[in-house]
Amino acid sequence: MAPALLYPCLVFLALLAGSATTATSHSQCLDNPPDLTAGGAEAGVVVNDLAGFKAYVTGASHSDRAVVLASDFYGFEAPLLRKIADKVGEAGYYVVVPDFFNGQPYTEGANRTEWIQAHSPVKAAQDAKPIFEALRKNRKSVVGVGGYCWGGKFAVEVAKTSEVEAIVISHPSAVTTDDMTEIQHPIEILGAQNDTVTPPKLVYQLVQTLRQRSGIPYYAKIFPGVAHGFACRYNTTNPFAVKTAEQALALMLDWFHKHLK
Ligand SMILES: *[C@@H]1O[C@H](CO)[C@@H](O)[C@H](O)[C@H]1NC(C)=O
Ligand SMILES: *[C@@H]1O[C@H](CO)[C@@H](O)[C@H](O)[C@H]1NC(C)=O
Ligand SMILES: *[C@@H]1O[C@H](CO)[C@@H](O)[C@H](O)[C@H]1NC(C)=O
Repeated sequence: MAPALLYPCLVFLALLAGSATTATSHSQCLDNPPDLTAGGAEAGVVVNDLAGFKAYVTGASHSDRAVVLASDFYGFEAPLLRKIADKVGEAGYYVVVPDFFNGQPYTEGANRTEWIQAHSPVKAAQDAKPIFEALRKNRKSVVGVGGYCWGGKFAVEVAKTSEVEAIVISHPSAVTTDDMTEIQHPIEILGAQNDTVTPPKLVYQLVQTLRQRSGIPYYAKIFPGVAHGFACRYNTTNPFAVKTAEQALALMLDWFHKHLK
């Protein structure tokens, strides 16, 4: 089936005009930090040793299909991320949200450059091998990764290996066209009109690279009227933001339903 690309050209052009003025010192990766006190109604549990990682675990424990959610800078404790994990679980998957930061997510005011150096998503993807091994040992024979921001880069790195069957990256950071030449599995890219980290222009370049490859199914969408972080750090009192995040979740589930079989 031909890969679909929903790509509003006007959105693309508007962004080209608008993004150049964004100050480089500020990163949207750090906008709208999660309210860690807003949790409570979680369906899952935190385990202390998922192949050596602490992890939030939820969903269909007997399913043979698993989804690993890779967080943004703010880590696996974010209540909205756990809510997403619960919904992916309700859709029939065994879901794990590992703490890839060993209890040291980004905290406001920390030096972002130093934090990333200490928490490289590329290295994390290598270090995560035992998680994928453990999932397969536990009869999860088909595995997908959904990554947000930092986790988007993590997902892409994992998609260069045979550890997964499909990935979805939402407002990724640090993902390059070179990555698109190396991935080996179906990829869905969910971007935002106002994303200055992975602007529509870059999403378009990622798609161009994927288009030149044969055999790697892809899908990309740019959501209008939202910025980086829209899928997992949205404003829960803004109906438009909530609706957009729900649409992103629905598209992620569609991709997993289609490619995790
Ligand atoms: C953050 O850390 C880097 C590397 O150590 C340093 O060069 C930079 O000046 C620091 N930035 C701030 C705002 O402190
Ligand atoms: C998106 O960008 C436009 C134009 O710069 C701005 O007016 C709008 O407030 C932004 N919206 C969000 C959600 O960032
Ligand atoms: C969240 O959305 C509500 C409703 O649109 C708005 O009043 C509020 O200022 C927003 N909060 C933040 C932090 O942007």
